[in-house]
Amino acid sequence: MMDSIAQLREKIESAIIQDKAALESFRRDFISKKGQIAALFEAFKQLSTAEKKTIGPALNGLKDAAEKKFKSAASLLESATSSSTEQPAVDVTLPAFGPVMGSLHPLTIVQNKIISIFQRIGFNLAEGPEIVGDWHNFSALNFPDNHPARDMQDTFFVQRNPDQLLRTHTTSVQISTCAAQSPPIRSIAVGRVFRNEAISARSHCFFHQVDGMYIHTDVTFSDLKGTIYHFVESMFGKATKLRFRASYFPFTEPSAEVDINCRLCQGKGCTVCKQTGWVEILGAGMIDPHVLTNCHIDPEQYSGFAFGMGIERIAMLCYQIDDLRLFSENHLAFLRQFTAG
Ligand code: DAH
Repeated sequence: MMDSIAQLREKIESAIIQDKAALESFRRDFISKKGQIAALFEAFKQLSTAEKKTIGPALNGLKDAAEKKFKSAASLLESATSSSTEQPAVDVTLPAFGPVMGSLHPLTIVQNKIISIFQRIGFNLAEGPEIVGDWHNFSALNFPDNHPARDMQDTFFVQRNPDQLLRTHTTSVQISTCAAQSPPIRSIAVGRVFRNEAISARSHCFFHQVDGMYIHTDVTFSDLKGTIYHFVESMFGKATKLRFRASYFPFTEPSAEVDINCRLCQGKGCTVCKQTGWVEILGAGMIDPHVLTNCHIDPEQYSGFAFGMGIERIAMLCYQIDDLRLFSENHLAFLRQFTAG
C-alpha cells in the first residue's frame, strides 16, 4: 500500500496542467470519487487497525497534495483567462511594437562637436590612459612634491601602487603626446577624469574633459586668444560674450580662465552663474617652459599654448541643464530628449 501511495504521489507531482482539459483529466484521475486516490481509500478499509495507523496519515497527505495542486492550477488558469473568458492570453491581432531608435548621449554629442571644431582648424586627436603615473598627472606638469597645487585636485590613488592614480585631468595626455611627437604639435585629448569629490548638482567624482595644446616656434598668447574666440563662436554662436581672467595653473605661465555670459539667465544672474552673469568654461595659458623641458622640447626654440575644459559644463550650457548628476543616472526620460544632431 505504501508503494502505491508513493507511486501515485510521484504521478501527481509530475502532472503538467497547462489548460482546462488537463485540469479536468487531473480531477478525473486523482480527485474524483472514481479516481485512483478514492480507490486507495477503498482498499484502506480492508486493512488491520495497526496498518491503518501507519498508512492513514500517508494516504491523507496524498489526498491533500492532489487537492492543493488541483486548486492552485485551477486558480492560475482562471486568472489567465478571466479577462477574455475563453480567449487565448495573447492577442495576436494587436499591432507589433515599432523599432526603438537609440540616440547619442548628450555628452557624446557635445564631445563630438568640440572635437570637430578643433579638427577643422588642424588639431589631431590624441589618446591617453585613465590610470597614469604621478609623473604624467603631476610632476611633469610642474606640480612640485608637496606643493599645495596638488590639493587643487583631490586624487584617487591605486591602492596597491600609490604611484599610479586615476588621472585628475586630461592635461596628463600632453606629456605622453609630447613624448611621442616632436613640434609642431597641435593636438586635443578627450576623456574621463576622476576626482575625490562629493557628488552634488555641481560636482561629481568623475567627469569628462577636453585638453588641447599647440607647440611651435613663435606661438604667442594672441594665438591662444584667436583659437579660443574661434571655439566659443563655433560652439555657442557669434553673439556670445567672453572674457579672459588672470588665473593660476602650475603648468602654464601666464594662465587664464575664460568665462562666457550665462546662457541660462542671459546674464541676469542665477544659481548656475552664482548670480554673476558669467560662467567659467575653460582654463588656458602659455605652456610653462619647465613643462616643455620635462618633455625634452627646447623652450628657447619652441613655445606653446594649452587649454582645458569640462565637457559636462559645456553641455549644461548648451542644453540648459542645471544638475550634473543627470548625465550619469541613465534616466531614459532625460536621455530620450537628445537626438543626434
Ligand atoms: N587641467 C585643468 C583642470 O583640470 C584645466 C586646464 C587649464 C588645462 C589650463 C590646460 C590648461 O591645458 O592650459 O582644471
